[in-house]
Amino acid sequence: MGLFLWLHIKSRKMDSLKIGDITIKVPIIQGGMGVAISLSRLASAVANQGGVGVLSAAGIGMTEPDFDKNSRNANRRALRNEIQKTRTLTNGIIGVNLMVALADYDELLKIAVEEKVDLVFMGAGLPLKLPDFVLELGFDKIHTKFVPKVSSAKAAKLIFQYWAQKFNHIPDAVVVEGPLAGGHLGFKMEELTENVVPLHQLIRETVEALSAFKTPDGREIPVIAAGGIYTGEDIVEIMKAGAKGVKLGTRFVTTYECDADMAFKQSYITSSEKDITLIKSPVGLPGRVIDSPFVQQIMRGETKPFNCPWKCLKTCDYKAVPYCISKVLLNSAQGKMDIGFAFAGYNAYRATKIQYVKEIFDELIEGYESTILKTKE
Ligand SMILES: Cc1cc2nc3c(=O)[nH]c(=O)nc-3n(C[C@H](O)[C@H](O)[C@H](O)COP(=O)(O)O)c2cc1C
Repeated sequence: MGLFLWLHIKSRKMDSLKIGDITIKVPIIQGGMGVAISLSRLASAVANQGGVGVLSAAGIGMTEPDFDKNSRNANRRALRNEIQKTRTLTNGIIGVNLMVALADYDELLKIAVEEKVDLVFMGAGLPLKLPDFVLELGFDKIHTKFVPKVSSAKAAKLIFQYWAQKFNHIPDAVVVEGPLAGGHLGFKMEELTENVVPLHQLIRETVEALSAFKTPDGREIPVIAAGGIYTGEDIVEIMKAGAKGVKLGTRFVTTYECDADMAFKQSYITSSEKDITLIKSPVGLPGRVIDSPFVQQIMRGETKPFNCPWKCLKTCDYKAVPYCISKVLLNSAQGKMDIGFAFAGYNAYRATKIQYVKEIFDELIEGYESTILKTKE
């Protein structure tokens, strides 16, 4: 009976997640959130719980005093400092989220690799090319593992095939981000409003599409699910579809450790389902936000001219766009909600209080285990 009970309890636990030679004790990854929403405080708190804490590199140098004159250097300096700060706060697994569309993507990737972050997540565009320094160094000399973020099985397969052919090396894992996620979304507006493909279908399709690829030690490529995952029960469901890990953004915003101002977090808590809305972002992608008087102002086209110190996103036509997305996001992270909006996942309205990251981990793990137990009974 003792052994039976032990096996029973053990099998309820979430399996750890292996990406390359890195073992993540709890397969929960915190999504990188920019601008200035997930920095060292949130990332280290998540890593200290056995998950992966992720710094967002988007606009990371904007609070440096010389940003307007020296944007490129300011970003590099700020990212290096933030990684080093995170390391002083945790011995756990950390990552950096990099948008492929960033003008200084290659340089920031180099900083992440030099600082030996465990994982780099590459989203907002297909990471087909790799900077020369990666190829010159060779993958076996680099500690950092590369994890593209996609929104379809087709995109995942394309990246894996391209890397296999060009680099004789494939990404170490892939994140599939579905239509309920927060921030910029890799779907057309109509794909988010009609005939929406659910995340579990995207996961099944991606697992299938990547089945021909194996990790160097012969395992399946870990597929990580993101977008709308909020509870332990959600984790059970998505793992049944084939995910080996989950990536959560929205759930970690309403924590004490989240690096955003309290007003940003409160906008989640006071929102209701009808407030979660979609906008067309100036970078050419839809974005999910919390509705507000400022969002309405933008929708009516009432925006003020702005000055672009440097073109931070390759895809932004800064002379034509009605506002600067980076500035608006930084404003909201600093609590200036009258001149900024909060990016948010579909489930943002479900938050009722500010919690510690540890409480969220406890709830997710407990919810996961009790769901498994229920399905076994
Ligand atoms: C406030 C906020 C900011 C985000 N910023 C970024 C970002 O700068 N770059 C990026 O690739 N993803 C960004 N995301 C997406 C998250 O990394 C994550 O994949 C997503 O939030 C998962 O969905 P969920 O919020 O429903 O859990 C952001 C999400 C939120 C909620």
